[in-house]
Amino acid sequence: MRILITEPLIQSAADKLKEHFDVEIGERGSYYNEQAMIEAATKFDGIMTVLSNPVTENVLKAGDRLKVIGHYGVGYNNIDTDAAREQGIRISNTPDVLTDSTAEIALSLLLSAARQTNPAEKFLREGKFEGWAPDLFVGLELHGATLGVLGMGRIGEGLARRAKACGMNILYHNRSRANKKVEEELEAAYRPDLNQMLEEIDALSIHCPLTDETHHLINEERLNLMKDHAILVNTARGPVVDEAALARALHEGHLGGAGLDVFEKEPKVHPELLTAPNTVLLPHIGSATYKSRKAMGDLAANAIIGVLNGEAESVPNLVV
Ligand code: GLV
Repeated sequence: MRILITEPLIQSAADKLKEHFDVEIGERGSYYNEQAMIEAATKFDGIMTVLSNPVTENVLKAGDRLKVIGHYGVGYNNIDTDAAREQGIRISNTPDVLTDSTAEIALSLLLSAARQTNPAEKFLREGKFEGWAPDLFVGLELHGATLGVLGMGRIGEGLARRAKACGMNILYHNRSRANKKVEEELEAAYRPDLNQMLEEIDALSIHCPLTDETHHLINEERLNLMKDHAILVNTARGPVVDEAALARALHEGHLGGAGLDVFEKEPKVHPELLTAPNTVLLPHIGSATYKSRKAMGDLAANAIIGVLNGEAESVPNLVV
């Protein structure tokens, strides 16, 4: 059987797959378009994908050879799961193993934006530092401030734990209420009304998946509900936030700053965000630790091996 890894990933995943199958590794970026993916679907029994590979209905219907997609990532909004279900193609993702790495990046963005470390560092590098001054880059203290977590899944909870360790008060909005133990441990208060939560908080961190319901969930109207000093952090998916509205709010001083690891039209970044005050921009590196990336590769490879060896029931991370 033939496996495609759409682009060079961690070597151990390829090595694991090579013990069972013929493995081809695509060049970086060569499977970012639908046509290339359609062709791949006719030639391979299994494909390891990344989030830039469109796995559309057309791809999933392209032939009857493809049996499994091992997706190297936890969010799988690039995959049409309904079409996969219809075609009997199994899909796996990589939950759990990137929870800590992504929560760490969210905390880092929150801290950087709250304390304006990026503009402060730029100021110093530009030779503008003339000694300590009482009004130099005065920011938001996390201790005692209130964090709103949008999406209290694994990563949202991971960030909430870290924020609590910094002395923050935690509110959260989620489709459903978190379990009692989590609420108690984090002293987290559920806010079924997102708008109410936005009015109360000093910082918002986004951790929900991208779906039709969450697309532009944070729009101009909702940004206007937030306090002028509030920080917005997004390590989930760019389109959850209306990027043009966010850039406007930052430029007009309706927000205190932002920390973004994801963008609406990656790899493009809205030009107004590039010039927005106190905005930290990262190139989607939430899960980029050696530990997470190795574990993601292992999970994706094991799922492909399990499904193609007829042992799908023993694969823990299938979403279809
Ligand atoms: C990365 O963004 C992922 O979904 O794993």
